[in-house]
Amino acid sequence: MTNSAIPFDKHEYWAQRFEHEASFEWLLPWSVLEPQMRAHNLLPEDSTAKILNLGCGNSDLPLDLYRSGYRNVTSVDFVASVIDRMRERCERAIGWQSATLSHETKDDINPGECPLQFLEMDCLDMSRLPEQSFQLCFDKSTSDAISCGDDDEYTKLRNLCVQVARVVTRPSGLWCVVSYSKFRQFEWTEGPGRGLWRTEQIVEIKTEQHQKKEKHAEATHKVFVPDVHQFIYVNRRL
Ligand SMILES: C[S@@+](CC[C@H](N)C(=O)[O-])C[C@H]1O[C@@H](n2cnc3c(N)ncnc32)[C@H](O)[C@@H]1O
Repeated sequence: MTNSAIPFDKHEYWAQRFEHEASFEWLLPWSVLEPQMRAHNLLPEDSTAKILNLGCGNSDLPLDLYRSGYRNVTSVDFVASVIDRMRERCERAIGWQSATLSHETKDDINPGECPLQFLEMDCLDMSRLPEQSFQLCFDKSTSDAISCGDDDEYTKLRNLCVQVARVVTRPSGLWCVVSYSKFRQFEWTEGPGRGLWRTEQIVEIKTEQHQKKEKHAEATHKVFVPDVHQFIYVNRRL
């Protein structure tokens, strides 16, 4: 999204968008991601592992993680309205009632606290989150959004690298970034963000493309639709 005409890095853009949009899934859905992540050993075995979801928007990912068994998922986004709505939507979907302890999820690690937490927060300042508190940080197109309009020094992306590095466990905490871009960089050898991450794998996934419908039913020529790939950057905390 770098140099995009749409200001994907701006709070105002997302705040306005969320006024009219209830639900939207950026890039690959969990049904595609989960098997890929399992195949590459990227998901914690422990259902109580703490997972951070950066820039949750109004995607189904928190619920998907819950349905995959995870009971300690914190989602953050810098738009307050989407955080409020996601908290309400997800609590309703999993039948969470904070006022009663008769809630069915006896396996909750923090009794009385919903397994899906939502916080209004700028990912470029996560100082409110405790240090080294997450085993896995998940980021689906939020690095893309933040990179949009970044400067030539990659100031924002480097800051994101620093912010995430502080809150994941070290060594070996994971930051999995799903991106449409083949050229995202998380590993820096000098300057801000240096020496924090090793990108140990980039998993390339070919996305489903649908042939564009011809205007005329009788048209016989085929339309060339190029393959489109998305990427999971597997960043390991050094
Ligand atoms: C491309 S959307 C991805 C949403 C969601 N992760 C998904 O997969 O559908 C980017 C999201 O990041 C949020 N965002 C962008 N910059 C942010 C920042 N600096 N801090 C927190 N959230 C941010 C936006 O509000 C938006 O919800």
